[in-house]
Amino acid sequence: MREYAYAKLNLTLDVGEKRPDGYHELRSVMTSASLCDVLTVEKAAAITLTCDRTDLPADGRNLAVKAAETFFAETGIAGGCHIHLEKRIPSEAGLGGGSSDAAAVLRALRTLYVPEMPLEELESIGAKVGSDVPYCVRGGTVLCEGRGERLTTLPEMPKCWYVIVKPRETFSTGKMYGAIDEQNAGSVPTTDLLIGELERGDLAEIAANMSNTFLEVVPAESDVFTIRTTLLRCGARNAMMSGSGSAVFGIFKTEQEARRACEEMQGNDRQVFLCESV
Ligand code: C5P
Repeated sequence: MREYAYAKLNLTLDVGEKRPDGYHELRSVMTSASLCDVLTVEKAAAITLTCDRTDLPADGRNLAVKAAETFFAETGIAGGCHIHLEKRIPSEAGLGGGSSDAAAVLRALRTLYVPEMPLEELESIGAKVGSDVPYCVRGGTVLCEGRGERLTTLPEMPKCWYVIVKPRETFSTGKMYGAIDEQNAGSVPTTDLLIGELERGDLAEIAANMSNTFLEVVPAESDVFTIRTTLLRCGARNAMMSGSGSAVFGIFKTEQEARRACEEMQGNDRQVFLCESV
């Protein structure tokens, strides 16, 4: 069966205190974009994975495989699956590509093996695979708290277009959290303001209230800032880095403006994607 793994965008990301377990307390509004990986998952005796990109691991280091292993371990079902992954979402971009693949595998295995399992139970299995996986299991526009496992579904994003730009550089999530701790970095939390604007459905005000603590620890010479400035010049309602980066997304009201921005963004070894709210 086929499952789509959508990219996640962090509209806000307030990183709080480091907890005794080493994870950070988060408050983040996440939303889904139509940029997606495509997975086919079939029942099989063992867990195997093939991928259209040969540079990705096909073992337990791949979150799609880890998700399948965790699903069978947690449910006690003696089963397996073959996963084929068509990769579109860039890796190490803050777009949740690996987490979304993991979530797509969990949704497929639930359909194939235990359709009666409540979604909340699948989300809990997801939390054992990675912090962003419970959100990716649910999808849509969601307030994520705690380590990322406490979910509250919010009103959908008003219809809009996203231009997602991945610079050549990548940032390691672990190192970015480390930099926040070292520099004692913080940002003005805007999550509650943004939720209020989502309830009103005002795209310009939603965009105006985006924020991301990780932006405070991006090196000043990074292409992230050039991309952000260029997106704003092209008419984006606002532009923000997603997750721990390095991808930046701009929010556009019309497809025409977004297409024009895509042309402006080319070059510098960037990857540019045009997609819409889902
Ligand atoms: O849970 P996951 O494996 O996706 O997390 C990757 C790394 O990001 C963790 O090892 C941790 O260093 C950091 N992290 C964190 N606080 C979170 C989520 C992730 O410090 N809420």
